[in-house]
Amino acid sequence: MNEFYQKDIISIKDFDKEQLETVFSYTDKILQLDPIQRREICKGKTLGYLFYEPSTRTRLSFDSAMASIGGNSLGISDVSSSSTQKGESLSDTVKIMSIYSDVLVLRHTLDGSSRFAAEVSEKPVINAGSGTEEHPTQAIQDLYTIKKEKGKIDGLKIGIVGDLKYGRTVYSLLYGLGNYDVDVRLISPESLRIRSDSTYEIKKRLDFSESTKIEEHIDDVDVLYVTRIQKERFPDEEEYLKVKGSYVVGLDLLNQMKDDCIILHPLPRIDEISTDVDKTKNAKYFEQAEYGKHTRAALLGLTLNEIAF
Ligand code: NCD
Repeated sequence: MNEFYQKDIISIKDFDKEQLETVFSYTDKILQLDPIQRREICKGKTLGYLFYEPSTRTRLSFDSAMASIGGNSLGISDVSSSSTQKGESLSDTVKIMSIYSDVLVLRHTLDGSSRFAAEVSEKPVINAGSGTEEHPTQAIQDLYTIKKEKGKIDGLKIGIVGDLKYGRTVYSLLYGLGNYDVDVRLISPESLRIRSDSTYEIKKRLDFSESTKIEEHIDDVDVLYVTRIQKERFPDEEEYLKVKGSYVVGLDLLNQMKDDCIILHPLPRIDEISTDVDKTKNAKYFEQAEYGKHTRAALLGLTLNEIAF
């Protein structure tokens, strides 16, 4: 039996290296199938999504992943048009969605929301972003992108820059990278360093250094993972304005990078990567978004098939 069958995907911490590599090899396998074979994987299965926060890529990539493996999706992408507005609890909404679908994809503003949903849902729950805590499927997509574009993960120097305090993709990526032998450089404004309540957990898993200056690392890293300052998560707008625009990766910085350094970003981008970087060979964030469709198709296929495809 496939070990992912009917399992929730709540935290990347629940994946060891072997399990990550299994997901990557199923993603490779999916990419080799022709569209007809691919549509057999989840034929007749339904994905239900509940998004309590805005999303473009995550929701659409789940949708398009599910369609590409023969399933369909339904759900609520704007809770203001759902019974949540009438006061329905998350617990009831999740229970109802789990009646109408085979797997549930949840994005919510609160840390712990997906774990809670998994407890009340009859069907497996996939965390598509829980507060500032985690975004495990994004980390799988990020790790897969690194592996495809650099040919390996072990041995790389990885710079992560931007909002390390509120950016949930950063936490999932760091926990995931903890399975590999990597040298991580965290670069952020002083006020946006990774949260002290998570440093212990991250230190247990990997070595990292912290800095406020991107120039200190720019000529040395193999991967530069850029993140957006998470404006909506600041308790105080004044604090946001102090750090807004702290780092902008433009052609000037790009010229100082290793020739084969890749630039990643979970997107959406605001102003932290200038658009003239997009056409360079180093920019891989649009490829990263595309890999997200295939890694999610693999995860859905594994979650919904007792015998892996
Ligand atoms: C990220 C998120 O929602 O955390 N977006 C995404 O899923 N690709 C990153 C962000 O919003 O900055």
